[in-house]
Amino acid sequence: MTEREERRAERAAAAGFGVTVLACGGLAYVYLQGGQAQLEGLLLAVAFAGVAYGFVTWGQKLMPQGPVSEDRHHLPSTEPERERFEADLERGGVLTRRRLLVRALGAAVVALGGVALFPIRSLGPRPGTSLAHTPWRRGMRLVTEDGRPVRAADVPRGGLVTVFPEGHAGSADGQAVLVRVEDPGRIRHRPGRDDWSPHGYIAYSKVCTHAGCPVGLYQAETHQLLCPCHQSTFDVLDGARPVFGPAAAALPQLPLRLDPDGYLRARGDFPEPVGPAYWHRA
Ligand code: FES
Repeated sequence: MTEREERRAERAAAAGFGVTVLACGGLAYVYLQGGQAQLEGLLLAVAFAGVAYGFVTWGQKLMPQGPVSEDRHHLPSTEPERERFEADLERGGVLTRRRLLVRALGAAVVALGGVALFPIRSLGPRPGTSLAHTPWRRGMRLVTEDGRPVRAADVPRGGLVTVFPEGHAGSADGQAVLVRVEDPGRIRHRPGRDDWSPHGYIAYSKVCTHAGCPVGLYQAETHQLLCPCHQSTFDVLDGARPVFGPAAAALPQLPLRLDPDGYLRARGDFPEPVGPAYWHRA
C-alpha cells in the first residue's frame, strides 16, 4: 500500500469515529429536548456503525496483513524504504501517524460512554417520602368524585361513599371509603383514635393493602369491607383489620371531624402510608 493510500485509509477510519462523535452529540441534543425514541435509536445505530467502520478500516487497511515472511538475507531495508523512513522521522510522521486515529477513537469512546449514562438520568427523580403521604391535610373537607363536599346527613346509614380530599377529586392515593356505622358504640378504637370517627362516621383508605385494588364493597350486616380482587376482608369496627384473604395489614384510617355546618373534614393525613404493605416494610 502506498503512503497516499495509507493516509486515505487513516482519514476514512478517523471519519468513522468522527461520525460516532457527531451521532452521539445529536443523540444528546434530542434526549435533552425531551427525546424521540425512533430518532434516538437511529442516532445510536449510526454511532455504532461509525465506530465499527473505523475499526474495520483500521484493521483491514492500516494493520500489517499476514502471513508475512521474508528471507533472512533480505533483512536490510531497500534504499527507497530507508529514505521514506528518514523523511517520516524528520517530520515525526512514523511516530505520530496514529495519533489522529487514537484521538478520534478516544473521542468516539468518550461520546458513547456519555450517552450510555442517559438511561440512568431517565430513571427520574427519587420518590423521597412522596409514597408516605397523600393530598389529605388538616381541615380539608371530604368530597365526592365530582367534587361535591360531603354532608354527614347525606351519608346513608349502613352505606358506603367514596370520598376524596377537597381539591383533589379523583386522587389515586387520597381516595377513601366513608362508612356510617349505625351503632358507634361498637367501634373498637385504636389507642389515641377515640375522636377519629365522630357519630359513627369512619373512613379508611380505599387502596387495598394487598396489591392496591380499590376496596369498594361493604357488607353492612357484618361491618366488613371487601376487596373484589382477592377477597381480602376488613373489619370496619376493628380498625379495618384484615379478617380474611391475603391482605396482611389494616387499611389506614383517615382521622375525621364534623364541622359546625355539618360537613365532614379530615383531621390530617392517613397516619400510615396507603397501599400495598410492602411499600413501607422496614
Ligand atoms: S388487592 Fe385486595 S385482596 Fe388482593
